[in-house]
Formats: sequence, structure tokens, C-alpha cells
Amino acid sequence: MRVLGIESSCDETGIALYDSEKGLLAHALYSQIALHAEYGGVVPELASRDHIRKTLPLINEVLAEAKLTRADIDAVAYTAGPGLVGALLVGSAIGRSIAWALDVPALAINHMEGHLLSPLLEDNPPTFPFVSLLVSGGHTLLIDVQGVGQYELLGESIDDAVGEAFDKTAKMLGLSYPGGPILAALAEQGIVDKYTFPRPMTNRPGLDFSFSGLKTFAMNTWRDSEQTDQDQADVALAFQTAAVETLAIKCKRALKQTGRRTLVVAGGVSANKALRTRLDAMPNTHVYYPRPEFCSDNGAMIAFAGAMRQSAMTKQAVPTFSARPRWPLDELSSP
Ligand code: KG4
Ligand code: ZN
Repeated sequence: MRVLGIESSCDETGIALYDSEKGLLAHALYSQIALHAEYGGVVPELASRDHIRKTLPLINEVLAEAKLTRADIDAVAYTAGPGLVGALLVGSAIGRSIAWALDVPALAINHMEGHLLSPLLEDNPPTFPFVSLLVSGGHTLLIDVQGVGQYELLGESIDDAVGEAFDKTAKMLGLSYPGGPILAALAEQGIVDKYTFPRPMTNRPGLDFSFSGLKTFAMNTWRDSEQTDQDQADVALAFQTAAVETLAIKCKRALKQTGRRTLVVAGGVSANKALRTRLDAMPNTHVYYPRPEFCSDNGAMIAFAGAMRQSAMTKQAVPTFSARPRWPLDELSSP
């Protein structure tokens, strides 16, 4: 079965074709970073309009790359949530319409499930069960994963997501958008242990996170410094080290609590090199990640999640759909 995947939940239009026998056939991504950069963050209405402009041309590009035509599409998987409602409606409307026109099944995919399953696109993929750490701009989740659709929430952020804290700290330091990867690059110039930031919520039991205090701590440290280039790098490093260490402490705790030995990390922040180095050093644990280009939003993970849920692909006689700005992972069920 060849599944067309459409991702449009935020500021990236991602399109891919995944073949259940041959694997990933082609994928393309259009990032709206330049569009939103001058506003310092994603402008939802501009995002929706840009998805409208880019989705169909990218589908044609992906079909051409795979040397296929629309008639070769067996099913359509599209992101139906969570995300920006206008952006989600674009992908959902186009996905449903294409499926209806081609008379093939369509499937609404949960964006976070897409991230969660994305490491399974790699060679030597992890096998179930495992603990998943999902770290993106909107979510910080620890999930016990028994199989596709069998997700038990172990912990989550009670305020800012870790990616959001990276972005807000970067903005406060005067870095451009999107701040996460820029702050991470700057941290490489920082002096180790110049500042030590707290590891929030690690000295009490539980698997929830809180990152907004860390962001404030960074802000106060920066304000009280001389604000030289070196200070900027030192604050970036101290923030990143504290965020990474906090995630690692909770991952270790989650693995111990569940008795799992496999940790699967995904979402935009899983591209962070310091995080990977820290998690790779955890004893008796196998850690899996997506390839760097599939850490952030992409169509491949949506096409793949669709293929993994093949049996749930029922034909829709009527092209109706709904988008879900909020859609907790533990509401999903097995295909
Ligand atoms: O998964 P994603 O592309 O979109 C959402 O679903 O939110 O994640 C984007 C987030 C942003 O907050 C971005 O700054 C962060 O991932 N990010 C990073 C890095 N690369 C992306 N954060 C820290 N270090 C990185 N290298
Ligand atoms: Zn995402």
C-alpha cells in the first residue's frame, strides 16, 4: 500500500509517499521560517495561507520524484491535530478531498503519534515496548508505549514545553527565530559551569516537567550580567545543560518505573546534540532517534503512521472531516 502523507500542523508543509513494502519512496518539506522570522514567532493566519500555496505543488513534486502518478496513491494520511486549527484544516481538507476524488481511504493522524513512531522509519528500528520522550515546540511528554496506539502517559510539562522554553530563552537573549537550534549552536561557545541553573522538579518524585522557571532563571542571569557575547553563550550553555539534565533524570526515572530498557526520543528537540550525548551515555539503555531531518515536522512520519494504521483505513463515502487543535495521545487506540 502506497500512502500519501500530509503534514501541516504548524509552520512546515511536509509531504511524503510511504510504501508498506518498499519503505519511504519520496518526501519534500517547505519550511515557513523566513515567513514568520520578522514577527519572531508563528503567525497562524499566515501559516494557513502558506500551506494552501505549498501543499499541492509539493504533492506533485513528491509524485514526480517517486516517478508515480496520483492514480498510484492507495491511501491518504493527514495530520488532524494537535496544532494550529487553521493550518490543520488546510491539510485535512486537501487530504480528504484527494482521497475522495481518488476513491481511496483517508486517515486522520495524530501529529504526536507521527513524531513518536518516526524513529521506526530508520534501519534497525526499536521494537515495542519502549519509553518515548517526545520533545517539541508544543509538547514535553514521557509515554509508555506497548504498541501502535497503546500509549500510557507517564509525565508531561505542567507549563512550557521544552522546545518553547528554548525558543523563549533564545528570544530573550536576542537570538533570531526559531531560537532552539540557534541557542544550541551558541551554547557550544559557552564556558562550562560558568553558571549553574536549577533542574526543575527533579528533587521530588514524579515524571512531570516544568520549564518556565528555568526560562525566568536564564532571563534574570542575563539581566544581571554585563551582556557580552561571552555572557550570552554562557547563559545559553547553562540553560541547555539544565534542560538536558532535567530530561535525562526523568527518562532514567521513567525507565526504572516501567522496567523498560529502550528509550525512543523524537520531536524537534531530539535533534539537540547535547541531549543525544547525555542520553546515549545512560547505562543499560538503548536509545533511538529519528534521523536529524525527521526530528522536526515532516510528511514522512505522517505517511508512516498512516501505513502502520493501515487496517484502520476505512473508506469514507462522504468527504467530511474535523481538525483537533488538542488531541491527547492517550485517547488513541490500537489500529
Ligand atoms: O517537532 P517540532 O518541529 O514542531 C512541533 O511539533 O512543535 O519542534 C520544534 C521545536 C522548536 O521549539 C525548536 O526550537 C526546537 O524544536 N528545536 C531545538 C533544536 N532543533 C529544533 N531545540 C533545541 N536544540 C535543537 N537543536
Ligand atoms: Zn511536531
